[in-house]
Amino acid sequence: MKGGYDHYMQKEIHEQPESIFQTMRGRVSRMGAGADAAAGGERCIKLGGLAEHVEAMRSGRRIMFVACGTSYHATLAARQTVEDLVSIPVACELASDLLDRRCPIFRDDTCVFVSQSGETADTLAALEYAKARGALCVGITNTVGSAIARSTHCGVHINAGCEIGVASTKAYTSQIAVITMMALALSEDSISKRDKRNAIIDGLAELPEKIRQALKLDLEMRRLAGTLEGEQSLLVFGRGYNYATALEAALKVKEVALMHSEGILAGEMKHGPLALVDDTMPILAIATKDSMHPKMLSVIQQLLARGANLLVVCNEGDDDLEELCGSPDKRCSLIRVPQVVDCLQPIVNIVPLQLLSYHLTCLRGHNVDQPRNLAKAVTVN
Ligand code: UD1
Ligand code: F6R
Repeated sequence: MKGGYDHYMQKEIHEQPESIFQTMRGRVSRMGAGADAAAGGERCIKLGGLAEHVEAMRSGRRIMFVACGTSYHATLAARQTVEDLVSIPVACELASDLLDRRCPIFRDDTCVFVSQSGETADTLAALEYAKARGALCVGITNTVGSAIARSTHCGVHINAGCEIGVASTKAYTSQIAVITMMALALSEDSISKRDKRNAIIDGLAELPEKIRQALKLDLEMRRLAGTLEGEQSLLVFGRGYNYATALEAALKVKEVALMHSEGILAGEMKHGPLALVDDTMPILAIATKDSMHPKMLSVIQQLLARGANLLVVCNEGDDDLEELCGSPDKRCSLIRVPQVVDCLQPIVNIVPLQLLSYHLTCLRGHNVDQPRNLAKAVTVN
């Protein structure tokens, strides 16, 4: 069952080159890629479950994603891509909070419910709430025939394969890919977005190989987990596309390794979190190359100046970071991941961090696949 792996979580992390491929199979076509692209060839995205509803989504007043936990983080990771390509206001809501606030929802809203299990009680209750207000309700689920898949007007199955470990891993990367594909499908008539769309579609096609390369960091992540084993806490800084990566890495560390961990928007660092930083505080920073890179370099400089013990996720061949963190007097380890188009980088970046939380859990002697107090599908509010 575990195919030679010790735990389902480990198996599911390592399955990601294949699961992301399955998510895209039959949906991403690059007939115009390569030589043809120069001649103006087009790539295209086909999401059968949405085909009849694309027009209604495009003409809606906003797109609201609704989810819990890791699925919510996937919506945050892909939000900017939807905003960039579709140019419709996008909101990401935690299902429980949406219900607590009795958030206003209108007939011309599209509400997208993202759930691995398709059975999460809060997400399902939010779906019934949105349906009652006349919104178009779209599902993004991993489970065919689940309550959310049945109750939505239309949707997309992420086809990541059965996920058994309580900590969600491969569903997360596939959810980001599907929301990105949804943004591509909604923007296919946009001439101004054509180059960006083509770059993203090419990036999607590269993902299985890039994830395969990131998985080679396994041994290195086990070594780094050893440096964190006895720590009380881990702060994780990210911004832009990778704010979600920071939140998701911290969630993985807290739920399976049972270590306090907090994902922090790096732009908020000076508004409180910096007070926690000294030479006893381990910090993980995500600083891969995108438009936020100069700002992340500055954050890292400020953290180093306070003696922080740093792990930095960066792209291979990032000379600025090699220079900043490379000297032996700095307590800084670089986690070098392959580069992909900026909006897909969170899919690659989370892989070594999933491995880190996995190894940390094993070293600390906790139950990997069934962390205490947690269930795979939360079917009660
Ligand atoms: C579908 C088939 C797939 C087949 C392909 C061929 C299923 C489950 N999928 O995939 O086996 O190879 O056509 O073209 O039979 N839906 C919801 N809510 C959700 C998720 C999905 O309503 O949360 C609906 C969709 O709108 C669609 C149906 O379920 O009507 C199947 O969705 P999906 O599997 O994503 O569609 P295809 O990728 O076209
Ligand atoms: C974290 C985790 C949970 C789920 C959350 C939503 O690893 O598994 O945070 O993501 O309970 O579950 P689904 O996606 O099934 O709605």
